[in-house]
Amino acid sequence: MPATGAKPAGAADEASAAEAVRQMFDSIAPRYDLLNHLLSANIDRLWWRRTAHTFRPVLARPEAAILDICCGTGDLTMALLKLRPNGSRPILAGDFARAMLTRGAQKFGASRFRKSNGRHQQPGAPFAIPLESDALHLPLRDRSLDLIVTAFGFRNLANYDAGLREFYRVLNPGGQLGILEFSEPGGLIGKAYAVYFRRILPAIGQMICGKNGPYNYLPTSVGNFPSPNSLLQMMRSAGFVDCCWQPYTFGIAGLYTAMRPPVV
Ligand SMILES: C[S@@+](CC[C@H](N)C(=O)[O-])C[C@H]1O[C@@H](n2cnc3c(N)ncnc32)[C@H](O)[C@@H]1O
Repeated sequence: MPATGAKPAGAADEASAAEAVRQMFDSIAPRYDLLNHLLSANIDRLWWRRTAHTFRPVLARPEAAILDICCGTGDLTMALLKLRPNGSRPILAGDFARAMLTRGAQKFGASRFRKSNGRHQQPGAPFAIPLESDALHLPLRDRSLDLIVTAFGFRNLANYDAGLREFYRVLNPGGQLGILEFSEPGGLIGKAYAVYFRRILPAIGQMICGKNGPYNYLPTSVGNFPSPNSLLQMMRSAGFVDCCWQPYTFGIAGLYTAMRPPVV
């Protein structure tokens, strides 16, 4: 049966799946950054940077309306901000796990530029506005964004089709979508990686995090996620055009890109 959305252990329906995901990320928030960098040997930084560079032309437009949804602790948001000109419109950074978002806001929020006397250190420096929000019910108007990006969050949505439809709704005609997600590489590299991803990673995750759930959920959720071709097909069915998948690092991760068709 094709995957419709994330199914954490014990979740009976979409609402309980979303709630289990939210609670899980809230519970691992204090260790999230440390584990991320450790378990990926810092390759995650390259992936975020590469994703941001893909959207350089939109990011360079000061007036562009941009959302990083499922922003978590904000490392993709930070990579996007590096490519924003001074004085540009703030990026919106959304997540439904408050503990993750709070940590993110400490990195990307306007206050990071404040001195103790309350004056801005770098006037006009780009920043992001934290938005506690559910990706499936964005508190945004139809056709109001030029770019939506999401890193390692889409896989966790309780309904992938609903997520794509929601992204389509809030994008302007001609607006762009980028979904950075894990995938499962094939061949010998895939076999070696599977040993790491399914056995070693959950063990290290449990050791550092003190819980065995979240880092077992990670490989399971990647295993249940649609293949690149299936997700591209879902994107086309939601109305997107120019749908592509660019593998990163032997296909361990990859960037899906698409566009809401411009009005002709
Ligand atoms: C693996 S983390 C990725 C965080 C960050 N983007 C990164 O690259 O490190 C996934 C994030 O997606 C968020 N998330 C999952 N489902 C969501 C939803 N329906 N709405 C908003 N955020 C969601 C989680 O709370 C979590 O912070």
